[in-house]
Amino acid sequence: MLDLRRFVRDIPDYPKPGILFRDITPILADPQALAAAVEALTEPFLDAKIDVVAAAEARGFIFAAPLAIRLGAGFVPIRKPGKLPFDMHSFAYELEYGTDELQIHVDGVKPGQRVLIVDDLLATGGTMEACCRLLEKCDAEIVGCSFLIHLVQLGGEARLSPYHVHSVLSYD
Ligand code: PRP
Ligand code: ADE
Repeated sequence: MLDLRRFVRDIPDYPKPGILFRDITPILADPQALAAAVEALTEPFLDAKIDVVAAAEARGFIFAAPLAIRLGAGFVPIRKPGKLPFDMHSFAYELEYGTDELQIHVDGVKPGQRVLIVDDLLATGGTMEACCRLLEKCDAEIVGCSFLIHLVQLGGEARLSPYHVHSVLSYD
């Protein structure tokens, strides 16, 4: 069994002093690690009848498309402002190192569709909470939130408490 932790590179003080950045680019660059990451993100949801995989740009997108294909689902992008061309829902939120806003097309997910949301990393939970709020506005059924990395001490999981949270690698 391949140890994905070996492929996470720690960068101190990026993008701001005091932040320990968990860099996943070595996972992306290695074919076996990338395949193992996609499989580990997907595994608990293989029989969950997922209709749609949703993800926020940019790092969430990297995993969302292969997960969607693996699950026989579609992919719906959640984007930063100024990127979506059609009518949209919006939600503003705070990050570990700043603030941001996310948007989804109003017809991106149909009411009652079963959605898995994926991201590379759970820190404060602001990004995933925003994704959940946007999908709630679409009346989607959120089946779970799947992360490659969970930074446990930042407490993001509490913000996602109604939902099934799966993470592949946890860091204290
Ligand atoms: C990163 C990461 C997650 C989010 C996690 O994205 O990819 O989406 O932060 O942090 P949170 O749990 O505190 O919200 P970032 O906003 O840096 O954008 P990027 O994907 O474009 O690099
Ligand atoms: N996104 C938010 N916090 C992060 C961290 N510490 N490392 C990598 N990506 C992040």
